[in-house]
Amino acid sequence: MNVCVIGSGGREHALCYKIKQSKKLKKLFCLPGNPGTAKICENLAVDISDFNQIYISILEKKIDLVIVGPEVPLVNGIVDFLSEKKIKVFGPSKQASRLEGSKIFMKNLCKKFEIPSAKYFEIKSLEEAIKVIDTMNVPIVVKSDGLAAGKGVTICQTKEEAINDINNILKGKFSSSNKVIVEEFLEGEEVSYFIITDGKNFKQIGTAQDHKKIGENDIGLNTGGMGAYSPSLIIDKNLEEKIIRKIIIPTINGMEKLGCPYKGILYAGLMILNNEPKLIEYNIRFGDPECQVLMMRLEDDLLDLIISSIEGSLDSKKTKWSKDPCITIVAASKGYPESFEKFKEIKNLPNNQEKNIQIFHAGTTEKNGKILSNGGRVLNATVMLSDLKSSRKKALELLDDLEWEDKYYRRDIGWRAIK
Ligand code: AMP
Ligand code: GLY
Repeated sequence: MNVCVIGSGGREHALCYKIKQSKKLKKLFCLPGNPGTAKICENLAVDISDFNQIYISILEKKIDLVIVGPEVPLVNGIVDFLSEKKIKVFGPSKQASRLEGSKIFMKNLCKKFEIPSAKYFEIKSLEEAIKVIDTMNVPIVVKSDGLAAGKGVTICQTKEEAINDINNILKGKFSSSNKVIVEEFLEGEEVSYFIITDGKNFKQIGTAQDHKKIGENDIGLNTGGMGAYSPSLIIDKNLEEKIIRKIIIPTINGMEKLGCPYKGILYAGLMILNNEPKLIEYNIRFGDPECQVLMMRLEDDLLDLIISSIEGSLDSKKTKWSKDPCITIVAASKGYPESFEKFKEIKNLPNNQEKNIQIFHAGTTEKNGKILSNGGRVLNATVMLSDLKSSRKKALELLDDLEWEDKYYRRDIGWRAIK
């Protein structure tokens, strides 16, 4: 079949890399893709916020199946739009995408179906904020309701900061929503848990540990993710059983009861304390950069799993994982996640890559045969060797070899697992 992946980040490059290995694939496209995907499939220069443009390309290229990488088109209803036109598409509907698109929807679901999560309050006015904040202990977590490209959450160390932040959101700091919630701060260790589901059945599709902070030793500003490894070492059989029983199954059943069954990839951001999981957030897609390590470790045919999810036959499937752990290190433009310069030439990118040693492209562009940086997170060195320590060493070597004046990356990705 002809398949297209929508998106242009490291996640989408990794999805293309994996789908390219499928026996079921005839031709692969990426919309709009990046210089990395251009090497393994055909990029189509399409504005992915324009669903009609996407539809025209699908017809022109005789595409049989669409796989959506990022959350924005999902929250804006791309799955409903294409399904109405009888195009096969993998991902949750607009209603189901509220799990990520609205934190209030997600918290209400947790309350209704008794899914363990942080205590929260929805705040409708500054007066209410002052009253509620007065009853809480610091740190206080303030969250904008809608999508905010990773910038919608602030962990406030003082009550004044929390009130100030709430006020800014109520006044329209984020275009997606001026609704706001506050949450108690959860202690513990974060882990990412992924499933693929057809709305009733599900399969675990990997665990990973992300590194959100820009600086080594997990200090500094939050980012989209500076590196990840899989599997997560803190999830054992006993904890996984709790995650499934207390969080995943009530969510799948709850979404069905609410009349918006969830189909696609579901990414649970969890906080683990004393071997008990609490849900921090849901994402309706693969994580980036977690996808990069999951795609390298997954031994099954991803396309086959995706088709089973669409057809509702996931129950008959099994997922298999490489025993080897995998790591990815994100190389960013110096200055990210604040201001940074673009269009810096990157030299010395390897031409031929092995299956288990890849540099996935994220924010790059090609001009006159040269690869230039074109975003905050630029490249992902992804390596799967027999242990994490040698994988990290190899990934660092790949990045050290690049000639690019603005490169920045953490050398300590995986520190919890590599002693
Ligand atoms: P979110 O966008 O909800 O994933 O939040 C981004 C990051 O903020 C998470 O990955 C956590 O590191 C942190 N965070 C969010 N909510 C909480 C909470 N209630 N307690 C502690 N940390 C949180
Ligand atoms: N790496 C975090 C995310 O994709 O949301």
